[in-house]
Amino acid sequence: MHIPDIIIAIDGYSSTGKSSFAKIIAEEFSFLYLDSGALYRGVTLFAIENGYISDDNTINVPALAQALENLDLHFGEQGTYIGHRCIEKEIRSMEVAGKVSPIATVAQVRDFVDRKLREFGKSKRVVMDGRDIGTTVFPDAEIKIFMTAAPMVRAERRAAEMKAKGQDVMIEDVLANLQERDYIDSHREVSPLTQAADAIVLDNSEMTIPQQIVWLKGIIADKFGC
Ligand code: DC
Repeated sequence: MHIPDIIIAIDGYSSTGKSSFAKIIAEEFSFLYLDSGALYRGVTLFAIENGYISDDNTINVPALAQALENLDLHFGEQGTYIGHRCIEKEIRSMEVAGKVSPIATVAQVRDFVDRKLREFGKSKRVVMDGRDIGTTVFPDAEIKIFMTAAPMVRAERRAAEMKAKGQDVMIEDVLANLQERDYIDSHREVSPLTQAADAIVLDNSEMTIPQQIVWLKGIIADKFGC
């Protein structure tokens, strides 16, 4: 099947399998994969390490906004980097997960990430996942998918992922973190998580990734006649 030069925007709640799905799409279709959440996580790690966010999640917005002007956050061979330092492991920690949603409410942070994503997305043949890709970052994306899954299915998937990386987590804590992030992500003032009017819902609670790819190919075939 020939896949046209398009942008595929995948939005949805945390741990609905957006990034696993997006990575497989990128591989199958020879698309570039961009993980927008990784950039929010990278800014969060930067904010933690430099004291722009406190233990109770109070953010020094002016200082953070100013520091972003010199922050070299980018994607590289092993994932996400600040300068030459690979931060892929650190940005997946529970500490970063607990602070990323508040950081992602800051308008200057969203501008910073949006600018980077639009720059990377210039090439088309891109699949990008996040919370506001189809609504704000690429409102003209040809294919928009809104992913959802049952909360417990999501918590189990996230816990398994973290355990595989050697992190010792309780399912209750993971579920609580997901629900808290869902709330903040969908209620923030700037670019809240909402389903774009032209997005197609994919509930993958009981679907494997190969089934999701078949589903997506059907959507693309219907739309582009390929
Ligand atoms: O997809 P993720 O769990 O790695 O995302 C981490 C956080 O980043 C998530 O809680 C909300 C925020 N985020 C966002 O606000 N907008 C995006 N496009 C992507 C992520």
